Amino acid sequence: MPVTVTSHPLIQHKLTTLRKKETTPKDFRELVIEITTYMGYEATRNFPQEEVEIETPITKAFCRTISRHEIAIIPILRAGLGMVDGILRLFPNANVGHIGIYREHDTLQPVEYYYKCPDNIHEAAIFIVDPMLATGGSANAAIDFIKARGAKGSEITFLCILAAPEGVESVEKEHPEVNFFVASIDKKLNRKGYIIPGLGDAGDRMFGTK
Ligand code: PRP
Ligand code: URA
Repeated sequence: MPVTVTSHPLIQHKLTTLRKKETTPKDFRELVIEITTYMGYEATRNFPQEEVEIETPITKAFCRTISRHEIAIIPILRAGLGMVDGILRLFPNANVGHIGIYREHDTLQPVEYYYKCPDNIHEAAIFIVDPMLATGGSANAAIDFIKARGAKGSEITFLCILAAPEGVESVEKEHPEVNFFVASIDKKLNRKGYIIPGLGDAGDRMFGTK
């Protein structure tokens, strides 16, 4: 699926605050959760629904519910952790898996250092979350790892707050069937692999590390 840019004014407004260098880790964490919730709202617009019969205090009625019962949220460690609560606000009963991937400092190549996901990801609707998409190496590797464990690409929604054009192109090419949402596609990557203008290192800003 071609990338969808979630251009809703509330998302863009909060993203602008997220980018500012004076935004504190506390505010950064809160904004990431809020933006993720709004992005999740946009990304679930076409989720399948079914009719169920319920009883209101007045009468019986047929009403709609989301027919996906198994939801898995999989953050790419470490910055993706900050987005988990944003999706849990929409699906409080979701299971949460974890994939640890870091970019090797010099080559920018993704290295997997941790994997623990729910056993039933092959039957779940999956949200992979990571606030930053730079070269696309980490996202492509995470999607590969999850597919290799039985997940269907078309059941994966990848949510990323800020992306570089290079990363978007790479994920669209490697995983065209994945549902793919970003809040902004920025101008470019610099030579160190940072998104320009971007927001700096998301993990460091989120957790107050340097
Ligand atoms: C950041 C970010 C992505 C990755 C994107 O993580 O959260 O996972 O970089 O870059 P890529 O598209 O070029 O792979 P980082 O490797 O800095 O690890 P961290 O979350 O532990 O800080
Ligand atoms: N990861 C980040 O945290 N920031 C960038 O700009 C690129 C990758």
